[in-house]
Amino acid sequence: MSRSFDVLVIGSGAAGLTAALNLAGQRQVAVIAKGALGEGATGWAQGGIAAVLEEGDSFDAHVEDTMTAGAGLNDRAVVEHVVNAAPAAITRLKELGVPFAEEGGALHLTREGGHSHRRIVHVADATGWAVQQALERAAAAHPNVILVPDMVAIDLITGRHAERFSADGAVHGLYAYNRSMKQVETLTARATVLATGGAGRTYLYSTAPRGATGDGIAMAWRAGCRVSNMEMMQFHPTCLYSLQLKNFLITEAVRGEGGQLKLPTTGERFMPRFDERAELAPRDIVARAIDHEIKRLGLDYVHLDISHRDPGFVRSHFPNIHEKLLGLGIDITREPIPVVPAQHYTCGGVVVDLAGRTDAPGLYAAGEVTESGLHGANRLASNSLLECLVFGEATARNILARWNELPQLPSIREWDESRVTNSDEEVVIAQTWGEIRRFMWNYVGIVRTTKRLERAKRRVDMLRQEVSDYYSHFRVTPDLIELRNLVEVADLIIRSALSRTESRGLHYTLDYPVQLAEACDTVLTP
Ligand code: FAD
Ligand code: SIN
Repeated sequence: MSRSFDVLVIGSGAAGLTAALNLAGQRQVAVIAKGALGEGATGWAQGGIAAVLEEGDSFDAHVEDTMTAGAGLNDRAVVEHVVNAAPAAITRLKELGVPFAEEGGALHLTREGGHSHRRIVHVADATGWAVQQALERAAAAHPNVILVPDMVAIDLITGRHAERFSADGAVHGLYAYNRSMKQVETLTARATVLATGGAGRTYLYSTAPRGATGDGIAMAWRAGCRVSNMEMMQFHPTCLYSLQLKNFLITEAVRGEGGQLKLPTTGERFMPRFDERAELAPRDIVARAIDHEIKRLGLDYVHLDISHRDPGFVRSHFPNIHEKLLGLGIDITREPIPVVPAQHYTCGGVVVDLAGRTDAPGLYAAGEVTESGLHGANRLASNSLLECLVFGEATARNILARWNELPQLPSIREWDESRVTNSDEEVVIAQTWGEIRRFMWNYVGIVRTTKRLERAKRRVDMLRQEVSDYYSHFRVTPDLIELRNLVEVADLIIRSALSRTESRGLHYTLDYPVQLAEACDTVLTP
């Protein structure tokens, strides 16, 4: 089955829906999501969105904070562009009905690690959900936006899939698995926007949603695009330690509002020993400090304590966390929260320019799937939703402005299933998935060594071969599509980590503890 649209957006989070809404005035746009529309990371965001709105704050200060967190690997022009665009992006969200918290008639700004000012607009502790709902409402109401959930992108369509073969590298849409019809569809368009989010689920412990399997990064790589800085994997310092509730984030705003990290054994507040900014140091520093204390003392977790603040303040600022943890028997107004670091954000990704253009004509990308130059070696808290909004819009603007230059659609071959059968050993998928996530956590985690990375490389080489054999023999399923991407992205992360011979930002290796004088991106070319 084939369908054609003006523009195809893969992903219905903040980046994808922003791009769609900005295109829809002039073009017909289909937005596909691999499950329900709100299942990406956007809906899970807690803390908020960074923007210079406080008196005494400045764009320069936000730029400097972003560059400091990013350990100089950021592209200053991109940082300036995004920071300057932030207040207008917040205004647009307000116009769409996002009910940001206010105090005394003005937006309430909270604080997070690495920010020198109060700068984070938020909707209590569930900002992402409010943003996702507002964007979905606007998209559903627009006659030019077609929302297509349960459609799993498999591969981008290029000239290699055309009836008349072409090696020009242009992208013309994608092949996608329709979950309801259980068949592969051919979806074509003049422009395709990747907004597929990150690759957190390459790791055993992650705050990211189940679908964060790096599909967009792997698809773009297979289509011939460069990816960059994949070793810069961000670990959030405070994920709830609980056997009942997995992957639950405790927002950095808890530390922003005075929460302290303590050893569960002695009650010692340990962060001042590691950094003068204590709990509000950038994430890489806090996550490494917790990892160090956990390993040094053989602990399962450390404590995050906000019980010294007024209970009414805690309940009103963190209503969701308060309620969720109360259900687990933890009253955060009276006792500390057990926390551990977990993978949280993929700083690297598909290389894009300021207009969201990738290396492939007709292919754009926005949001966590990209490496735009904004985050460098470590993302500053709450700069990510902002990046989705700014680049989602920039991408749309460029597509509309360059419409007549976009590649013409050739005639595309339908998906060919004539040489595959149904799988007779699904167990391979769960087994391989588990293996990848475990060795990535143990060998490519917060603190690295060359020996551990080489171990991971040998394992990923073997698994890539096995997954490739499996893929060429059996019909695709959503799990197989994700596994194929997961193993590809794990390989890109390990290769990038092996090639960086210094410690910078999130990449910390005992074999090269020193930061080199010059900051260079790790760029992999297919
Ligand atoms: P996502 O919102 O992740 O959306 C990805 C979309 O792509 C989904 O619709 C998914 O279905 C679709 N997709 C993926 N693969 C396929 C495929 N193969 N086929 C079809 N569709 C596909 N950032 C902040 O700035 N502030 C915060 O407070 C904050 N808190 C966070 C809290 C948590 C728990 C997490 C995990 C992240 C947080 N972040 C925060 C980061 C931020 O939420 C994400 O970086 C951002 O939402 C990514 O948006 P996106 O549009 O790029 O992708
Ligand atoms: C948080 O609320 O701690 C997450 C913020 C972010 O990831 O930007």
